[in-house]
Amino acid sequence: MEKKVSKIGVMTSGGDSPGMNAAIRAVVRTGLYHGLEVYGIMRGYQGLIEDDIYKMESRSVANIIQRGGTILKTARSKEFMEYEGRKKAYDNLKKRGIDGLVIIGGDGSFRGAVKFSQEFDIPCVGIAGTIDKDILGTDFTIGFDTAVNTAVEAIDKVRDTMDAHDRIFIIEVMGRDAGYIALHSGIATGAENILIPERKTDINDIIASLKEKERRKKMVNLIVVAEGDDFGGANEVQKVLQENLPKAEIRVCILGHIQRGGSPSCIDRLIASRMGYHAVESLIEGRHNIFVGIQNNKMNYMPLENAVKNKGKVSDEWMKIVKILAS
Ligand code: F6P
Repeated sequence: MEKKVSKIGVMTSGGDSPGMNAAIRAVVRTGLYHGLEVYGIMRGYQGLIEDDIYKMESRSVANIIQRGGTILKTARSKEFMEYEGRKKAYDNLKKRGIDGLVIIGGDGSFRGAVKFSQEFDIPCVGIAGTIDKDILGTDFTIGFDTAVNTAVEAIDKVRDTMDAHDRIFIIEVMGRDAGYIALHSGIATGAENILIPERKTDINDIIASLKEKERRKKMVNLIVVAEGDDFGGANEVQKVLQENLPKAEIRVCILGHIQRGGSPSCIDRLIASRMGYHAVESLIEGRHNIFVGIQNNKMNYMPLENAVKNKGKVSDEWMKIVKILAS
């Protein structure tokens, strides 16, 4: 029989993503609804180690559903990777009587939670908050939809000037290990080439198609590249293309951290609210050390250790669509 939880902590960890605030709000208000005490842990695991923890009330999360960033702040804690750090974190939880944790973050944060729950008697539930969408067991992660829409808006603008000048543009989007932002935003903006870490980039193929365009005097071409592509980022791609097409005007635009900020989209607010609600329900009902995802519009619960990077899972069909629609 699992112990009943009565005081829970909530934190955001790793890279922030739009919608994290909506998830915090859902956790706090669902916890209070069930009569639990809810504690906000600042700066993820680092705040846990440093005892930077405060009690939250319903109004602590008023007027935040529409805000990007995270009111609890976030960090990547090196100290938590060591046993001593995790022991300090546990002692701080014990001292306050916190007996359940909701972690909103990416796969690195979940790996920390797995270790923590194995070593100490603290049930953990994970919610996927990352713009990269690289977590197994969920169709969406909080922030992905907003990030992709930010990228689409920016790329559309670049396309206007690209077209006016007959140029080649290489646009770099985020995704150190995953190409979902590149794939989704690239398809949505009609990119001719999309370069992602999950697929080997054939630069010679791109050069050949651009030379053909040059021959036909149709030198407009949009390339969307994920920062973690195996060939390198936008600057590396530009260098090689320029060497092979000396007459072409090739420009680079790196979208960077604007993709991580801004007001969350409706979808991100909605999934954050649902995941936050179900994370607390899971802790109460004894579904511990799991990750709460949404698949086919239904809640999906998986052991936390399975929610690792969903690398290399981009289907051939997606790549075929890119090729056919851009031809
Ligand atoms: O949030 C994930 C991510 O956006 C990656 O795609 C990117 O490489 C990384 O964060 C950069 O994060 P930071 O600048 O915070 O180190």
